[in-house]
Amino acid sequence: MHKNFKGIEKTVFGRGSFDQLDSILSEKRSDNNKFMLFVVDYYFKGKPLEKRIPVKPEDVIMFIDVDTHEPTTEQIDNIRDSVLSSKGLPAGVVGIGGGSIMDIAKAVSLMFTNEGSSTLYQGLNLIKKPGIYHLGVPTISGTGAEVSMTAVLTGPEKKLGLKCEWTVFNQVVLDPELIASVPRNWWFYTGMDTYIHCIESENGIYNNAYSHAYAEQSLKLCREIYSGENSGQTPENDDKLMVASLMGGLSLTYSEVGVCHALSYGLSKILGMRHCYANCVAFNHLGDYYNDGVKEFKDMVKKHKVDLPQNLSKDWTDEQINAMAKVTYNLPHMWNHALGTDWKEKITLKDMEGLFRRL
Ligand SMILES: [Fe+2]
Repeated sequence: MHKNFKGIEKTVFGRGSFDQLDSILSEKRSDNNKFMLFVVDYYFKGKPLEKRIPVKPEDVIMFIDVDTHEPTTEQIDNIRDSVLSSKGLPAGVVGIGGGSIMDIAKAVSLMFTNEGSSTLYQGLNLIKKPGIYHLGVPTISGTGAEVSMTAVLTGPEKKLGLKCEWTVFNQVVLDPELIASVPRNWWFYTGMDTYIHCIESENGIYNNAYSHAYAEQSLKLCREIYSGENSGQTPENDDKLMVASLMGGLSLTYSEVGVCHALSYGLSKILGMRHCYANCVAFNHLGDYYNDGVKEFKDMVKKHKVDLPQNLSKDWTDEQINAMAKVTYNLPHMWNHALGTDWKEKITLKDMEGLFRRL
């Protein structure tokens, strides 16, 4: 079976396009109980962008702190329940922030129409009904969450996405001016998530001409942004990074991620490590899987003088390492892609523990 992927319905790209948000939403405001729910990264509370958000008196705006942990099933259920009990069903959900806020907006949109806890729907095509209208405005680029058909949530049992056609945004607004203020280290970690998406997408059995075309273009942009003569955090590179993130996301959608993301999920689930950072921590030590990619990655780390701590595993208990390896082992789609469908003959749970001990 070949993948049948639903893309974003509408996309605006360009500097200053954030100011079109009001007119885009005006067409949708008469649906359901005629109000919008805005979920916004707490970082923007009190910042100039807050004043530019087109919030009407009837709307609900929530500023969410995503610094401490990745989105959880409990958090999504709470947002849904509190809005439904106070105001009813919104006309739409607007997410303004990084990958975590994108995932929260997508997940909440689905959970408004699907009963029970979001833990019931972690997996592929478990969602029963389409969600409500949802729009994403990324303010950090790299995770590809703006284009993916999954909303990754950490639950009591697993870190796994609500993955189906209805997860994909109805609309995204890509305004490169919004990513200009991303702190340097995070500009690097999140951009490297895109880079790693492409390297992993390219190196495995699900790679194909379609995913390759997106990865090739995204990698070209990543190299201009992070290793070329004109690399660095410039307006031109911010334009490129927004597009690279989108294309990296499309590449992995038609292919798959691999060893690095499998480890990264373990680091996030057990240690609460942020996705993009966890990827960088892991990728640095995966030269035997992605030789050229890891070499290039190390050059980029050096060039931008990024902090990437070493010897983290000396502080982890055997139980933690075993738990992380179990999370990793339970991502067969990633291992299928990276090592082949006979991956269980090539790598064991113990070997995966060994990969974590490298970090
Ligand atoms: Fe990723």
